[in-house]
Amino acid sequence: MLLKDTTKINDNWMFTLGDCSDYAYAATDFDDKKWEKVKLPHDWDTFFAPDKKSKSGAGGGYAKGGIGWYRKIITISKKDLKKRHELIFEGVYMESEVFANGILVGKRAYGYSTFVVDITDAVIEGDNIVAVKVNNSKLPNSRWYTGSGIYRDVYYRKTDSVCLDYFGVKADTSGVYREGLSATIDVRTLVNNYSEDDSDVQVKWILKDKRRKQVASAGATLYTSSFDSSEACSRIYVDNPSLWSCETPYLYKLVTQLYKGDEKIDERVDGFGIRTAEFTPSDGFLLNGVRTKIKGVCLHHDSGLFGAAFHKEIWEYRLKLLKEMGVNGIRCSHNPPASALLDLCDELGFVVMDEIYDEWTLGKNKNENYFSDQPSYGFSQFFYQNAEQELRTMLRRDYNHPSIILWSIGNEIPEQAYSDGAKIVKFLSDIVHSEDSLRLVTSACDNIASLPEIETRKDFIDALEVVGYNYVGRWRERAESFYEEDKLANPDRIMIGTENPSVCGDRGDYSTDNKYNFSYVTATLTHEALWRFTASRNYVAGDFIWTGIDYLGEAHWPRRGANFGAIDTANFKKDAFYYFKSIWNKDEVTLHLLPHWNFEGEEGQFKQVLCYTNCEKVKLFINDRLVGEKACAACPRYGATKSWDDEVRRYHPTTGDLHLSWDVPYEKGTLRAEGYIGNKLVKTTIVQTTKEADRLCAEVKQLGDFFFIEVSACDTDYKVVPTFNGLIYVKMDINAYLIGMDAGNMSDLTSYKSDKRAMLGGKILVVVKKKDMKD
Ligand code: GAL
Repeated sequence: MLLKDTTKINDNWMFTLGDCSDYAYAATDFDDKKWEKVKLPHDWDTFFAPDKKSKSGAGGGYAKGGIGWYRKIITISKKDLKKRHELIFEGVYMESEVFANGILVGKRAYGYSTFVVDITDAVIEGDNIVAVKVNNSKLPNSRWYTGSGIYRDVYYRKTDSVCLDYFGVKADTSGVYREGLSATIDVRTLVNNYSEDDSDVQVKWILKDKRRKQVASAGATLYTSSFDSSEACSRIYVDNPSLWSCETPYLYKLVTQLYKGDEKIDERVDGFGIRTAEFTPSDGFLLNGVRTKIKGVCLHHDSGLFGAAFHKEIWEYRLKLLKEMGVNGIRCSHNPPASALLDLCDELGFVVMDEIYDEWTLGKNKNENYFSDQPSYGFSQFFYQNAEQELRTMLRRDYNHPSIILWSIGNEIPEQAYSDGAKIVKFLSDIVHSEDSLRLVTSACDNIASLPEIETRKDFIDALEVVGYNYVGRWRERAESFYEEDKLANPDRIMIGTENPSVCGDRGDYSTDNKYNFSYVTATLTHEALWRFTASRNYVAGDFIWTGIDYLGEAHWPRRGANFGAIDTANFKKDAFYYFKSIWNKDEVTLHLLPHWNFEGEEGQFKQVLCYTNCEKVKLFINDRLVGEKACAACPRYGATKSWDDEVRRYHPTTGDLHLSWDVPYEKGTLRAEGYIGNKLVKTTIVQTTKEADRLCAEVKQLGDFFFIEVSACDTDYKVVPTFNGLIYVKMDINAYLIGMDAGNMSDLTSYKSDKRAMLGGKILVVVKKKDMKD
């Protein structure tokens, strides 16, 4: 969203780690010259290596935490002094207190919320000192890695005394009528009057298409009372709307203008998509009336070496990788994301489940993923005072995103097993519907079939509009029936897999003795069984796997993070990426072979060679000799019998698995897979034994201000050596500086800022920035 007279103020902040007495750092005359100059977004935890003794512990990725202070000068001209002045913090972790010229002007405990601070009464003409205290010292306090500091963007906004409320524009597609090919959009806009006088204002809504051409508009006159808020409503009619979908995420611009007489006093521009989104008991999820299976991933909010610091370009890169994998859904687990992430989902075409809490009144053990009756600091401490405010903030901030199709009020909430759980579901759902009458509410339940003491109560499930199942096959009696028994017993229940296992493992690890990985041979089996079920039952809306990308925290010393993702923290694709791509991305041919073929000294031993493919038939050759020819159960990849999207099966499978495998006695040389559709050879993939690593090769990508240098260890034939895990050193030229290095290895506890780091599987990511862009 873009707002009139609103500027990003990420530059030139001064920062210090540590606290002071009597809030001395907030004072106007405090000398901060010795502090470090930083550019937001900023996560101070990224500057330290994980420390086993850190109180953030395993859950928090052994991050440092603590108390930090930021200061910045904002200059206000004499002319602007009569205006209103606001600061908008997209996210500060956590317990922040904001001061303007030494005066406390706002505070926020929850570290994941966007908040607005009115600094009007504290500002003066000329230089104003804004100071922010951030307290992330009561650790652990959340799951998982949180980061510490002002980790998202900050904006300064000046307005007239009558203005649009920062969160005050809401627009939704109330209907798309196919017969007449027209759509109606209901618009509501909240106007705040901070002046001594009542006044009449006009609100104008203009819908513009991609070419910026006005396609529809509406207007309303609003009487606003002094020191009060008033809402203007109208309906916009659009002929021949271009619909937003995952494949064609068409975005209009909704321009909301506020006029006093002829003078335009405020304006806001939102990306807006016209679409309908419905959940049904028998057909799962329908986007624009079309049954759409959600092929989703859960995402945690950190991004590897950047920690929690949110950079749009980096998430754009990551989301595009997920798109390539065939993903069409994102679950923001377990907290609201940066709003720019939702912009990206709108732009790239992902449906989103936006989630507000990981705990309600009962705290969780932050180092494990279980409920604990031990006191633990976290949102449960604030629930009674703040639950409504935080939820409303998420709903208002995120309302206009066409990507959002479902609100989640909680993840694996312990109250699911207690009698007051259903009451809290009702309390939170009522808040949701007082803000949004169209989208439904879910909660991710992990114990729908489980031990009696922790089992999700029926009244809790019945209180949910969409029942979210986490790990639906986890309990032995559910391992094969998944949702089916519940469906037979509750035909009207709307069901979705809110969280289910992915394919866990470190990139390129094919050993059999790594306690952090499943064997590569069986790693996909749990998911395969679930997906065969989900894909062939229309009533299951889809699934969000845990997780799309590896994340920090939920670690076990000596590791810093969790390797559940299909992509590692350095954004390198793991084998799992290709498994998902083969079943989810129908637009590209996938033919991926694993493991590598560098097993010197193991000649003659059987190796299991796996292939993830959406080809109908694959022939495998070793050193040009045919090993065998196989076809998948998944041609097409949707269901064992009739497929949910009614594709025609052309091949009879030879196996029920969603992958192919061959036992091949190892000999050095070349594995070659040929993939066929019909009788046509459509793709060939080669895996070869390499020589020793001899040189480094690099590929450079520019992502915003950052340069991503993907370095590979290659042999003399320029083949990447997949077994090379050697150290590399980086020496910076005077024109650039190092942001960090990461090879995606969770066991590497070196600071991301270090200029020495080990490669993993022959690869490493080096991130640099040009000097003139220095923080
Ligand atoms: C779930 C939990 C997630 C994560 C995941 C993997 O139970 O909701 O936050 O912990 O397990 O361990």
